Order: sequence, then structure tokens, then C-alpha cells
Amino acid sequence: MHPRPPATEWLAAAVLYQIYPQSFADSDGDGIGDFAGIEARLDYLEWLGVNTVWFNPCFSSPFNDAGYDVADYLNVAPRYGTNEDLTRLTEAAGRRGIRVLLDLVAGHTSDQHPWFKASANDPSDQRFIWADSTEAPEGFVASPGSRPGFYQPNFFASQPALNFGHARMHPDEPWRVPVDADGPRTNRQALRDIMDHWLNLGLSGFRVDMAASLVKDDPGHAETAGLWRELRGWLDEKHPHAALLSEWGDPKHAVPAGFHADFFLQFGSRADGLPLRSLWNNWEGTVNEAWTPLEPYFGAKGEGTPRLFLDAWRETTEAVGDAGFISLPTANHDFSRLACGPRTAEQLPAAFVFQLTWPTLPAIYYGDEIGMRYVPGTPTREGSRLGPRYDRAGSRTPMQWDHSPNAGFSTASTDDLYLPLDPDPARPTVAAQRADEGSLLHLVRRLIALRKATRELGARSGTEVLHEGYPLVYVRGGRFLVVVNPRSGAAECTAPACAATAVEASGVEVDDGRIRASGFGFGIFTIEAT
Ligand code: GLC
Repeated sequence: MHPRPPATEWLAAAVLYQIYPQSFADSDGDGIGDFAGIEARLDYLEWLGVNTVWFNPCFSSPFNDAGYDVADYLNVAPRYGTNEDLTRLTEAAGRRGIRVLLDLVAGHTSDQHPWFKASANDPSDQRFIWADSTEAPEGFVASPGSRPGFYQPNFFASQPALNFGHARMHPDEPWRVPVDADGPRTNRQALRDIMDHWLNLGLSGFRVDMAASLVKDDPGHAETAGLWRELRGWLDEKHPHAALLSEWGDPKHAVPAGFHADFFLQFGSRADGLPLRSLWNNWEGTVNEAWTPLEPYFGAKGEGTPRLFLDAWRETTEAVGDAGFISLPTANHDFSRLACGPRTAEQLPAAFVFQLTWPTLPAIYYGDEIGMRYVPGTPTREGSRLGPRYDRAGSRTPMQWDHSPNAGFSTASTDDLYLPLDPDPARPTVAAQRADEGSLLHLVRRLIALRKATRELGARSGTEVLHEGYPLVYVRGGRFLVVVNPRSGAAECTAPACAATAVEASGVEVDDGRIRASGFGFGIFTIEAT
């Protein structure tokens, strides 16, 4: 076997690509994507240049939450194929230099998981959180089994929280147990067993679902962090090549808690969710009524500001240092795609130039590289709806490969597709954009190649912001000047004293001490002091 570099090393050069397995490519005509479908598209991923993919949960499940309700952690859902198919896909990806990460749903199972079914019938079982009271504590759900009482769900009612203990005891809740009680210890061991199982089959790590949710009533997540640090210690010993990326949404806490990287995400307080929303979220697509509306910086009106994002990024970078990475996603299966609401195709190049020249671990959500739209008004599917204006299904529609029936996603009858395709007759496709060197897809491909070939544009290289506003201007590694103007109107500012040579530019000039950017313009330049 080839020596495998440690995760800390390969992640520095990683470009992530997220595959929602239901919707990527269907090989057997049942309307739902599968492993063989993904395998058949590996040439595309290799051509695009991404080198790490992560799959949303592909395990056996009743799919009440798109697979985030796991009924068997060690076996894949038959609709995607077999464990052998996944292993074969992983090996085929590896031959193309692509690592595969799975989704570890650590905080809860499905109510159909045998662990939960046993627990619902055995009053002494501690693997889930049971209140043996006569009335349901807030948020708890009545036992479906012979055991009396109520269990605590972690997300939907059908997702009982695994018991990793409580950080504090409480006289009104005598059922709480400490983190080192038997049930929590068994669950911690189970996480190791699950990781071991998949890592031994050639997988390269995990994206960890709701990573902050494990220990309950845990001020500052101190005990949850302790649990992950312990697991990371074990991983570093046993599988040092494997990466742990968290869905925590707060890298300055997640990285010290043992994760190699954490995502900047759409949820949370000012310290986490708002900075991402202040870049992308245009209040159509997935909207949580509790969020305070604000104009995104990447908005045609030009009424946003990059400041919220930049301040949070600086603070996070200082806290994280070289201990891990901060991942900036274009979108994911839980929130709107970049192409959403009023954001048109011509606005997308600047967003990708920004993401792929930023000091981050970039994560591209499948289809964003061709500008697939958040599709409004789709039916709700597999628990996609979270609120009156929050349906995740619009971000989960089938990949648009070509102009054949069902956009080349599946040979099933159109009515049997997992979700309907974007009905727009002008919907973008991979085939059309591959044939057009001026397309978003070709730009994204060139940006990925440039990033991988250029240390100065990577996650570890310095960033000096020269102009915060329209345009946004920064220098990477002292050698690359990047300009993006996400608004429709032109914008200009002072240029540093340098000679600038365009590497990739559209509508941006650096000349006579000025940077002039037309609407939606972008540019990457090498610079030399004059
Ligand atoms: C995470 C997943 C989301 C899922 C939830 C419950 O937030 O990203 O899709 O519904 O956890 O597992």
C-alpha cells in the first residue's frame, strides 16, 4: 500500500465537493442516485479537479430526514448499492486522486435503529436519554415501546438523541447521567467502531453531523469538546490519514475540540451564522423567520458589506491558527444555493473567484459549479421542510448533466424522480458548459487548477485585504491581487503601486494607480512592486 499522508497535510491542498447521493446520478433507473452512478461520473470530478468528496449519509435508513436518521451505521442503504459497491467506488476515486468522506451522524439514530428499539423496551438501557417521569419534559417524545416514559430527540421526533451524558446533574431531572456512565461509554466506543469499520474499507474520514450536540447541558461545550478530543487522539494513533470535518458552525470552538476543519454555516448567532449569510443569503430559498434580514454582499444592488464576514474570518483565523482549517461552502443540502432568488448566472463567477482564492478549505456543493438554481416550489421530500419559508428540497434537485430526458440524471419516468428537475428550459447543464470555454464550469475548473498549483492561493498563505467594500480587493501570499465586484454597478478604488498581470480577469483593470471593476467583474493578477 502507498504511504498515506496525514490528514493535516492533504487537507491543506483539498478542494471539497459535496455529493447529495440521492440526486447526483442514477445508474439503475429507479429515480434515485446511487454509487454506480457516482462511479460513472468520476471522470467528470477528476476533470473538474476536486480531490475530496463528501457524501451525505448513505446508510440504511427509513429516510425521514434524508438519511440523517440512521438505522444501521455499518451498512449502506440498498437503494445506493452495497458496501462492496461503495468500496469499489472509493477505490476507483482513489485511483483518480479523489478521497471520499462519509457523513457520521454521531448525535442520534433513527427510531428504527435496533439500539433504540431495544432501549424502548428495556428500562435499564442508557444508550438514549429517557425521562421516567409521568409528564413529558419539554421537547421529549412518548416511548414507542413497553418502557414507560419519554425520550429526548436530537432533531426530528424520529431521531432519538444518543446518550453521551449530561455535563451537569439537575435535581429535577434525576435520569441524567454523567459522561462516563455506562450508556455514554458504550456510545463513545460505538463511534470508534463505526469509524474503524469505514476507514478500514478505504474511506478517508467523515463530515460529522451536529457535532456540537453530543453532551447535553454542556456549558461552552466543554465536555463535548473533551469527547471529540479523545476520539481525535485515537484517530491520530490508529488512522492518521483520516480527516474529521465538523458541522459545528463555529470553527474557533470546533478546531480546538479536535476537528481538522469546521464549516462556516448559515445557522447560529452573530459569531457564526450571520457572517456566512451576509455573503450569500438573499432571503429567498431557505429562509428562517428568526433571522434578521440583511442585504448580502454578493448582491446586485450593492447594498451589502463584506465587513461582517471579514471581521468574523479574522477573529476565527486568529483563534484557529495552524491547528485546523475553516471551510467556506458555496451552499449545502441545508441552505440555498448561490443561484437563488434574484441572483443571476452573471453574478456567479465573482462568487467563485472569491471562494477559490480565499484562505479556506473550499467546499463546492454539487451543481453549483454550473450554476444550478435553488428550485422554488418543489414538493417536500424526506423531511426537507423546516419552516414555512424553509424547504431544503430546492437545494436537493437532480444534477443537470445534459439535454437528454431527465437531464441525464436518470432513465426513470419523470414522475419517479427523487425530486423534480429545475423546470427552467434554460437550466444549465454540464454538457453544454463543457462545450463552452466561456462557461462558469470552465472558470471553476481553471480556478481549482490555479489554486492547487499555487501555494500563495491556498489555505495556509497570508491574506492582506486592501479594500473592503465594492470592489473587494486583497493580496494573497504577497504575489496575487484579487478583485471582485459583486454588484451590478461599476466600482473602483486605489491600486497598490505595482505592475499587475492578469491571470484570470473579466471586467477589471489595474492601471494608473486605480482598480476599475465593471458590474460583476473579477480579476486575479500577479503583481510586482514598481
Ligand atoms: C444536520 C444536517 C441536516 C439534518 C440534521 C439532523 O444539520 O446537515 O440535514 O437534518 O443535522 O441530522
